[in-house]
Amino acid sequence: MSSIDYAEKIPNNVNLQNDRTLQRALEHWQPQFLQWWHEMGPTDFELANVYLRTAISVDAQGWAHYGTLKMPDYRWGIFLADAVAERKIGFGDQMGEPVWQQVPGEYRSTLRRLIVTQGDTEPASVEQQRMLGHTCPSLYDLRNLFQINVEEGRHLWAMVYLLHAYFGRDGREEAEELLTRHSGDENKPRILTTFNEPMTDWLSLFCFTYFTDRDGKFQLKSFAESAFDPLSRTCRFMLTEEAHHMFVGETGISRVVKRTLEVMKELGTDDAARIRAHGAIDLPTVQKYLNFWCSSSLDLFGSEISSNSAASFASGMKGRPDEATYEDHVLRDVAKTVSTPQGDETVPMLNALNEVMREAYLKDCEIGLKRWNRMIERAGYALRLSLPSSRFRRSIGPWAGVPVDTHGKMVARQEYERRLEDWIPSERDRAFVHSLMQKVVEPGKMAAWIAPPERGVNNLALDYEYVHLH
Ligand SMILES: [Fe+2]
Ligand SMILES: [Fe+2]
Repeated sequence: MSSIDYAEKIPNNVNLQNDRTLQRALEHWQPQFLQWWHEMGPTDFELANVYLRTAISVDAQGWAHYGTLKMPDYRWGIFLADAVAERKIGFGDQMGEPVWQQVPGEYRSTLRRLIVTQGDTEPASVEQQRMLGHTCPSLYDLRNLFQINVEEGRHLWAMVYLLHAYFGRDGREEAEELLTRHSGDENKPRILTTFNEPMTDWLSLFCFTYFTDRDGKFQLKSFAESAFDPLSRTCRFMLTEEAHHMFVGETGISRVVKRTLEVMKELGTDDAARIRAHGAIDLPTVQKYLNFWCSSSLDLFGSEISSNSAASFASGMKGRPDEATYEDHVLRDVAKTVSTPQGDETVPMLNALNEVMREAYLKDCEIGLKRWNRMIERAGYALRLSLPSSRFRRSIGPWAGVPVDTHGKMVARQEYERRLEDWIPSERDRAFVHSLMQKVVEPGKMAAWIAPPERGVNNLALDYEYVHLH
């Protein structure tokens, strides 16, 4: 197992000290990153002492160290999972051949684009979440937000390392660009739409970490299969950190649902207006937030029919998540039927891999829904939360711009426009949710719209002062 050298300016387990050129290039980028964090990160909390975990090894057991520090002092570093000896390409036309330790010339621009697109999402989410600290429902939640933020910062480092180490001058330029695009910026937005959506309330944060970080998980899993071994090793370790982000989403929504059910029981009603008047978020509003962030995240997988996905897979650049669980790893003689507004279309499987990934993703998304619906059922209510159809509100692929309802049924454009505010949060819904967002920072206290978590962080008490504000 490779250990991480923390004496270095840039903590790493990639022997940076033995590559002076690369080390100098990254040390040149480091102050730019810190400047970006200072301007675009959770800026107003730079003096707060936060109980954070930091990666100290890439060993699955005990990889993290917990301690209190100020976020700008976080040790962002470069950590790759250990190399697998004799690793072979696990899919595509070059299956069985040794993996690549360098980027093959013919795949250079595609791999760079894939890495830049992934890399761009990491700082984007920090930018999206930068004001949320001011409306945290508890210190526990505030700490979790900051934990996610510093780790997304580290994920940026992970991608920037690959750009610097393997893509020469182009890679260094891309690394700088990653700090100059900004979420929601009119002139220089982030690459993917979901990462330009404003995020001004914690229900959105929980939905984002549930749906969008889960897209991240699927992307990282497919890169973990890559024939480009440094990318595979980088992403394997990122997945360890990513699990916490989805935990925040799943437990966050659970706690919202739990609190709403308590209020419904107390009042003996499921009337939305009365639940709202009592300071909780009615379940139909939760459903609208799920619809919004799920449909937005579905676009991140790309078009249902895609020659890019075929090329990335056939060449070995990007596999399917959990590639080993499939039987056929070459996919040259198989087809898949994909639904389009014009009817079903049968295409080579290689061209339908975005859809394969999207289907696996939606299955993974169902897990939380089952949990929340069990809670609702036990409380004795008939309502069930659900995922929107993957055709709903799409901006990419054959269903882009097609008016369909949340069940995937085509409706008249006028009806769609009229009913959209029944399906995704309306201005009024957002205004109501915003009205609940009041900062609660007394240790152990929770905002009224959310139930406390089942346990604290790292076995600490719930009323531990996870963030010490000044
Ligand atoms: Fe990330
Ligand atoms: Fe994440």
